[in-house]
Amino acid sequence: MKTNLKKLGFCMMSAAFILQATSMGASAANGSHSNSSIHEKKIVNVAHRGASGYAPEHTIPAYQMGEQMKGDYIEIDLQMTKDGRLVAMHDEKVDRTTNGTGLVKDLTLAEIKKLDAGTWFNEKYPQLAKEVYEGLKVPTLEEVFKKFGKKANYYIETKSPDVYPGMEEELLQVLEEYKMVDSKGRTKNVLIQSFSKESLMKVHDLNPRLPLVQLFSYKNQATISDEELESIKEYAVGVGPNFSKVDGQYVKMVRNHDLQFHPYTVNERADMKKALEWGATGLFTNYPDVFNEVLSEYKHKDNGNKVTK
Ligand code: G3P
Ligand code: CA
Repeated sequence: MKTNLKKLGFCMMSAAFILQATSMGASAANGSHSNSSIHEKKIVNVAHRGASGYAPEHTIPAYQMGEQMKGDYIEIDLQMTKDGRLVAMHDEKVDRTTNGTGLVKDLTLAEIKKLDAGTWFNEKYPQLAKEVYEGLKVPTLEEVFKKFGKKANYYIETKSPDVYPGMEEELLQVLEEYKMVDSKGRTKNVLIQSFSKESLMKVHDLNPRLPLVQLFSYKNQATISDEELESIKEYAVGVGPNFSKVDGQYVKMVRNHDLQFHPYTVNERADMKKALEWGATGLFTNYPDVFNEVLSEYKHKDNGNKVTK
């Protein structure tokens, strides 16, 4: 009985994998999204701040490792410098991930470029420390695009947009400059995410063809209504909540509205499996290699269906 139930559960999940391939046509109002990366891949593996479980977050080596581990997307959190440049950093302050102090908004790019963004990692994680991490620089968004080019996929978050007026305009300008969008405003390799609906709406108004993901940070067990989901669908292609507060019912609701479901930050194998069983269409992880192993286990377990990653 147990085995049969297990088999049934697995078949249902496999079917979900396949169905997903055909149901990724979710498009927000006005924008028929051409983002092939979320349409072609059945489950997206997002290297959260790069492969940040192994290398200092938001540095070129962390992003490179994400690519080597076959993460589908490089996740980039954006902050904006005093002189209006977009840099890859999670916190509003430079204190945690560099040897400097202060707010990004109060520092020029030249000042931020003087900081060491790698030594903190070696000190905090001696077992993962590498000499090459010493003296790493905080990358600008432009540098990331220059380094990884148009073949990579980018999952870009506007952080603290209320602190940075003009951030969305600058982001769109950089996307255009590096030809991440075509002349019609379409992209094949960029997703924009934010906790701020206002910021996403701003991006949507500037370019309705950019695929957007609405992030949520729930403090308690999460629920979401049909009305909320319909409203999100007006501008976004998916939602990204904190994994620890959602359950299968939440995911079902999201998927019933044909929205992508990309929870963060899922680092444990058991949680990755659970997310897949619930119908996640991708997830953010500091360990893209582990998530690929989990995906591959499912692929190999399933002999009857063509579950490809
Ligand atoms: O962007 C998804 C996830 O990264 C949101 O949380 O705080 O890691 O940016 P945070
Ligand atoms: Ca993020």
